[in-house]
Amino acid sequence: MYRSRLGNDLSDITLDYVSSIDDDNAIAFYDIVGSQAHALMLYQQNIITKNDAKKILSSLETLKDETFDSSSGAEDIHELIESLVIKRAGMASGGKMHTARSRNDQVVLDIRMKIRDDINIICNCLLDTIEALVSVAKNHQKTIMPLYTHLQQAQAGLFSHYLLAHADVLSRDFQRLYGTFERINQSPLGAGPVGGTSIPIDRHSTAKMLGFDDLVENSIDATSTRDFVAEYVSMISILMTNLSKIAEDFVIWSTSEFSFVELADEFTSPSSVMPQKKNPDILELTRGKTAEVIGNLTAILTTVKGLASGYGRDLQQIKSSIWSTSKISINTLLIFKSMLLTLKVNEKQMKKVTESSNLIALDIAEKLVQEGIPFRVTHKIAGSLTQLAHLSKKPISKLTPSDIKKSVVDTKVDPNLVSEIISSITVVSSLKERKSHGSSGYDEQKRMILDRLKKINDFRTDLTHRENKIKSSLEDLKKQIDEII
Ligand code: ARG
Repeated sequence: MYRSRLGNDLSDITLDYVSSIDDDNAIAFYDIVGSQAHALMLYQQNIITKNDAKKILSSLETLKDETFDSSSGAEDIHELIESLVIKRAGMASGGKMHTARSRNDQVVLDIRMKIRDDINIICNCLLDTIEALVSVAKNHQKTIMPLYTHLQQAQAGLFSHYLLAHADVLSRDFQRLYGTFERINQSPLGAGPVGGTSIPIDRHSTAKMLGFDDLVENSIDATSTRDFVAEYVSMISILMTNLSKIAEDFVIWSTSEFSFVELADEFTSPSSVMPQKKNPDILELTRGKTAEVIGNLTAILTTVKGLASGYGRDLQQIKSSIWSTSKISINTLLIFKSMLLTLKVNEKQMKKVTESSNLIALDIAEKLVQEGIPFRVTHKIAGSLTQLAHLSKKPISKLTPSDIKKSVVDTKVDPNLVSEIISSITVVSSLKERKSHGSSGYDEQKRMILDRLKKINDFRTDLTHRENKIKSSLEDLKKQIDEII
């Protein structure tokens, strides 16, 4: 439709090469609503007549229910929609819908509207997943487990503490995305191809109709910059990396060697040959799909890094990377929430492993510190107790008085004091005495759970407020359209 300056039509293979029509289905709805806002503004500014507006708006309205045919010969959804409006409204009116606009501001408008909706969906899913983590944590405030560093047992801890750590990580993902939304929700509409227009449009008015908070003011910036896409996909890459780490923990913990957790059957896959297998494929795919999202980010950054200012067709390619990023993150969060709520936790095994691993060594050292002995000395004593226990293949609590004497050699520490301390410490007493803010201590779990539940509520209130603002702008727009058609 746009080839008036050019002679020959594109061959099928070239058309297929340049066309973005398959990717554009995801933005067809936004393109229609954006075009309605633009047409309404053209009428309000006396640029087109009420009759023109009526015909354009009603043709666009009928297109909302249309499934677009990818073999239409159009290069993209913008061309296809305009040609369908002209067909339905006639050239005299329909031919005016593209007044004072360009596909360059159109496509970026659609992308911004799609990403802002995706952010709100992802933020809701994130809050559900965080809530699931906190609710499982609530049930496991007394579930003892070993905490790891270097994947080596480090300190005794609680499963709730582990889950709350991830709730906090995902809360930061929520906050990051919530902040990104502010930079996405700005209207590029009316920027034209790159330098604006001589026709007296009102950009502020279309921005308001479509629920944007502000304009991307500079028309060169508005049409050619995709930093907001890179920001969105970066935020999702961080989110996916965080989910992938949880996936990895659960893959390890569901092995028969660990047996700390068992995934519900619906989150595992069988083997085609080994009947006994219950593979954590869904979690492995989280790791795999995280790689895909990071790949999407790389594709976007490498597309934009060498582009000259102003729209370049290369930008068309990044759309599928955005859609794929949104889809992967939404699905992963939905799956994670259900997976967490159906997870079986093998409390006995976690406790057994914790108790059999001399994880009280640091507690012994800290108890001696409370007796006024320098930590470096107490660390040495606890270290040699652990080594003696290891060599004699028994727990620290079963060491003989002569072993304990050996452990204090070269120090002035009374071996009887060490003996008393050893017999007073258990994993449970250790967790009772863990008082530092944010620690694995029992009391801290209660406090953190209450605090996080309040935080989730506050996040939900803010998010709902934001969603309602967009919803009511679009409802107002629809009302204005209905009055005309
Ligand atoms: N299909 C294009 C895209 O997705 C729309 C913009 C085309 N603009 C142009 N000047 N050819 O990016």
